[in-house]
Amino acid sequence: MRIYVEANYEAMSKKAAYILSSQIRLEPQSVIGLATGGTPVGMYKELVRMHKEEDLDFSEITTFNLDEYYPIAKDNPQSYYYYMMENLFNHVNIDLSRVHIPNGMAQDVAKECENYETMIRNAGRISLQVLGIGPNGHIGFNEPDAQLEPYTHLVDLDEKTIEANSRYFNSREEVPKQALSMGVKTIMSAKKLMLLASGQNKAEIIKESIMGGITPEIPASFLQLHPDVTIILDKEAASEV
Ligand code: GLP
Repeated sequence: MRIYVEANYEAMSKKAAYILSSQIRLEPQSVIGLATGGTPVGMYKELVRMHKEEDLDFSEITTFNLDEYYPIAKDNPQSYYYYMMENLFNHVNIDLSRVHIPNGMAQDVAKECENYETMIRNAGRISLQVLGIGPNGHIGFNEPDAQLEPYTHLVDLDEKTIEANSRYFNSREEVPKQALSMGVKTIMSAKKLMLLASGQNKAEIIKESIMGGITPEIPASFLQLHPDVTIILDKEAASEV
């Protein structure tokens, strides 16, 4: 596990963008796993700048997002589909036919999850999976539980997650109560993982995840079992490590 501690949010974002862009330059047909939430916004901003000013070419990559709320329409500004279009896809030369995000309006959820998993498998292994971390230690939307789901599945969101994510919605009531998420095995099957965390409110969970026991009650603790993990923290998130 490589741990980088950067001076602030901007430096954390730049480091993450540098690593992701190096992956794309080295292997233009990379399969990239993408994350949403507040944390990677700065990384996406830097990637857009790299595309515009440094010819970073997204045209051959394939992407799979970790998760999506359920139910939610693509044109809802809180959907992760909308987020990805706004923060990255609308601003770079990505081929949208190679972009994958779980369908938050799928009628047949079991089939959607199975298809998503099949598409990931058919694309080959994910070259680099970007991750954030929930204040409760969730990765994607894999919430703390007595056991974790291996593959893409429908999740009942934790009260803590609904609370934490309500800051992006007009009210707590508007936060969807469920989500579609890659499973822990899907995530762990990526060749490389890169987790970003910023701010004091992530300090305790970062410590528990990377220095504590491996437990499904802290899904991010499973990262300790992966052979190629990069963790990029700002000073606040690293303050307990
Ligand atoms: C969200 C997402 C996660 C994300 C996490 C942290 O619920 N499903 O993929 O990593 O919560 O979000 P933030 O970066 O806004 O703290």
